[in-house]
Amino acid sequence: MAKPSTRLNVAPVPPDEIFALNGAYGADTHPQKVSLGVGVFRTDDGKPWPLPVVQKAEKELVADDDLFRHEYTTIEGDVPFLRLARDLMFGFEGKDSEEEAKARIASVQTVAGTGANHLGALFLGHHMKPPTVWLSNPSWANHMTIWELADVPRKTYPYYHAATRSFDFDGMMSTLETEAQEGDVVLLHACAHNPTGLDPNKEQWVAIADLCERKNLFPFFDSAYQGFASGSVAEDAWAVRYFFTRKPDMEMCVAQSFSKNFGLYGQRVGAYHYVTNRSSTSLRDVVVNNLCHLIRGEFSMGPRSGCSIVKKVLTNDQLTAEWHQDLQVMSSRIKSMRKALYDELSRLQTPGTWEHIVEQNGMFSYTGLTPKQVYALKDQYHIYLLKSGRASISGLSQKNVAYVAHAIDNVVRNVN
Ligand SMILES: Cc1ncc(COP(=O)(O)O)c(C=O)c1O
Repeated sequence: MAKPSTRLNVAPVPPDEIFALNGAYGADTHPQKVSLGVGVFRTDDGKPWPLPVVQKAEKELVADDDLFRHEYTTIEGDVPFLRLARDLMFGFEGKDSEEEAKARIASVQTVAGTGANHLGALFLGHHMKPPTVWLSNPSWANHMTIWELADVPRKTYPYYHAATRSFDFDGMMSTLETEAQEGDVVLLHACAHNPTGLDPNKEQWVAIADLCERKNLFPFFDSAYQGFASGSVAEDAWAVRYFFTRKPDMEMCVAQSFSKNFGLYGQRVGAYHYVTNRSSTSLRDVVVNNLCHLIRGEFSMGPRSGCSIVKKVLTNDQLTAEWHQDLQVMSSRIKSMRKALYDELSRLQTPGTWEHIVEQNGMFSYTGLTPKQVYALKDQYHIYLLKSGRASISGLSQKNVAYVAHAIDNVVRNVN
């Protein structure tokens, strides 16, 4: 038992579940152990996969030998990178007619997607003072922490229908319709919802946009999987682009991560975009200026090297095409492992329905396994996933999928 401090008022904080699980997995010496916890891409051999295009860009950067490569950037970050990040997210194709739309977007560089979520929460907490932020139930666990640290009251809207293992669109809409108040923030996952893997379809996105507009709610998009989920950067940005182009009188914002789609997890590459509405475009520079004030007081500026890699790729047509191929490699592997797990469970006639595993989207599957079944998988089979039953599909491979399916079959039959 630690001695109480004579100065601090601190109590132990529960460890982050994902990182604790990863630590336990690392310490496990069982030869058949499987990690389905942390959301990182793995090859079929269970190894990390530095994207081939990223490796090429790194070599080119070394060859460029830019003397300024380790210098400070500006407080807002690397401006050419930010323009590319913005265009990737919002879908501009370099036409002059798009200048007016671009003028609506204030962009700054952040410490990856987490930093973008955090900066956005802090900025809105300071300057919008939303009565409430609405998070999906469930959501990426860090959303709760981030908004708690920004001191914004948090509530949740239903998202997951456990009985049918599907997206609870009606529950979400009716809760927001009846309980959300003007000026509230609604946090939306742009694609590949974490942890459920369930996204609204296009018709549902249209209805969500209408609801936000009608009730004067503020949409806050978290985009952590653009291109990684479907293999197409446009498809995965559909909702963001729809809100942006079809609701020009609505303000909104986007937290953008490059961790998954470029495999730059430890490089911390990200951006935060605040979108002003059509009639207040002149606000943009003041927004950037205020975001810079928060950045300066916190981390001075975003890191340089990861965004140089992204910039190298996105300013070269050939490298961009190769990046799109790399996205296809990652998203196809995830889809094929979903199918392989589903096929094995079907072959074993595992009790229950498992179609949701192939129907869900992105890195994760919300398996529907109970906490007891999850513990049994860890204790008996050395298979690690989150207590909620969320499994990172990327940890599956041709070599371990039969073992994992057999283990799931066993715990489903024997553990409630
Ligand atoms: C929904 C969601 N948002 C944001 C992030 C943050 O990613 P990062 O900070 O690594 O860019 C993640 C990563 O797992 C995520 O799943």
